[in-house]
Amino acid sequence: MTSKSEDTVKNLKEKVRQLASENRRLKSFIGIDKSLGLERDIDRLLPLVMTKISEFLDAERSTLFLVDWERMSLWTKFAQGLGKETINIKLKMGLVGLSVITGETVNLPNAYEDPRFNSDIDELTGFRTESILIVPVYNRQSEIIGAVELLNKNTGLFTKEDQEVSERIVSKFIDDGLTEKVNKQNAAELIHEIRQFTSCARGSFFILNRQNGSLHTIVSEGLKGREISLSINLGVAGLVAITGEWLNIQDVYADSRFDRSTDEKTGYRTRCILCVPIKNHSGEILGVLETINKKNGTFSNSDMEALKTLTANIAIHIENATLFSEQNRQFKSILKVMAASIDAKDPLTAGHSENVTKYAIGIATELGFGETERDVLCIAALLHDYGKIGVDDIILKKPARLTPQEYDIVKNHVRITKNILNKMSLSRKYRTVSLVASCHHELMDGSGYPDGITADDIPFMSKILTVADVFEALTADRHYRKAHTSEQAFEELEKYAGIKYDSNIIRALKSFWGKNQTSDSGFEDPFRYS
Ligand SMILES: [Fe+2]
Repeated sequence: MTSKSEDTVKNLKEKVRQLASENRRLKSFIGIDKSLGLERDIDRLLPLVMTKISEFLDAERSTLFLVDWERMSLWTKFAQGLGKETINIKLKMGLVGLSVITGETVNLPNAYEDPRFNSDIDELTGFRTESILIVPVYNRQSEIIGAVELLNKNTGLFTKEDQEVSERIVSKFIDDGLTEKVNKQNAAELIHEIRQFTSCARGSFFILNRQNGSLHTIVSEGLKGREISLSINLGVAGLVAITGEWLNIQDVYADSRFDRSTDEKTGYRTRCILCVPIKNHSGEILGVLETINKKNGTFSNSDMEALKTLTANIAIHIENATLFSEQNRQFKSILKVMAASIDAKDPLTAGHSENVTKYAIGIATELGFGETERDVLCIAALLHDYGKIGVDDIILKKPARLTPQEYDIVKNHVRITKNILNKMSLSRKYRTVSLVASCHHELMDGSGYPDGITADDIPFMSKILTVADVFEALTADRHYRKAHTSEQAFEELEKYAGIKYDSNIIRALKSFWGKNQTSDSGFEDPFRYS
């Protein structure tokens, strides 16, 4: 044998060894995916995620830190070696803070050689950190919510691959467990991933509607955005939804269970199908995942195993999303009732908070605000006057102008609003609600209340509330005067444009008002954004 062919054999052996190792790693990764996908309890899921990451990457310890932006601190949600004890550290200290502030992954062979490393936790726990890998954790709104820290790789140093794997596990499971929301976009991403994995031509994700016995597509590739509904009594997907058993049909036109009507409608020719039910924790069928036309041949057992693993995750997404939207609806209806109960203190202000909310959301939409910002504004607008609960009805309903003392009492409603909203346990995305709501009587020239702050210090969302609030108040009857027309109200606002009120906001309200006055549909429902 020549030395050249010896080299070739050696290279091949090395390649086989590498492939076997990659295969083992992939299998182990799918195993993690599967075991985590089945865990639905957040308190059990987080330690499991952390333990699995440590095991998979062969790290000695792993810690999940969550960030508290208000207090600018990090606290441990789960830390191996700390038991139930939690640690709080200042955000600006150490490498974890660095990762959270910059959004960068930190990967160092020796932590003590880096001046930014904070050894306080080592001192507290008696542990000696050597190599360190820190990955920031993002939620679905791409906001950083914390970081995962892995310490001391047992076999050598943390590699680039370790970094990528931990980023993937972290983003997938930790956020899923903390803030769950499934939407068309991530369903589409999922279908794309499945298509790549099984190398098939098309993939569809159906949700089962038990009330009318149909399957409805959330995502179906190849239908160009069209959505289809199938009767559960028809075809392969229907059969899988009824029986809960997967089906792998290699030649569908030779199989009587296949329903050709969709092919006839779309002009597409289905050859083979792999269809798997999506079941929840208690075995209830939530939907069906269907992949069509394997590119090179038919679907294999490993395609099926992969699909089964993924459907376990999808089931969690669907259940959590359902729960999330139910809770969201409940939450919003409670806020609406709270707002209405304040407005009901006086018949002349009935509907005030809801109208202010409509105008504020109208302005925000004209100005191109995103969904999260509109959501914050919606809650701040609904509850902006909630502090009036602490103001005597006699003053609120007084049929004449108020005395300076009475006016001071009324003014205090914004402080009460702030105190009440601060006591509400709102989720992180609503952390600015109390500030926004409590500044709705501040004016750009500093002549407002309670603090008399000026333009630069007033949150922009509060400036929107101010304009919406003044416009609503001017166009409604009051005990001491009749309602202004919308033209008079705009004139009044424009008199102080750029002085007390933001000119762009007035323009946006005018544009919104113009569009809605001519439309038959009336004002948009502010809750449609949430
Ligand atoms: Fe107010």
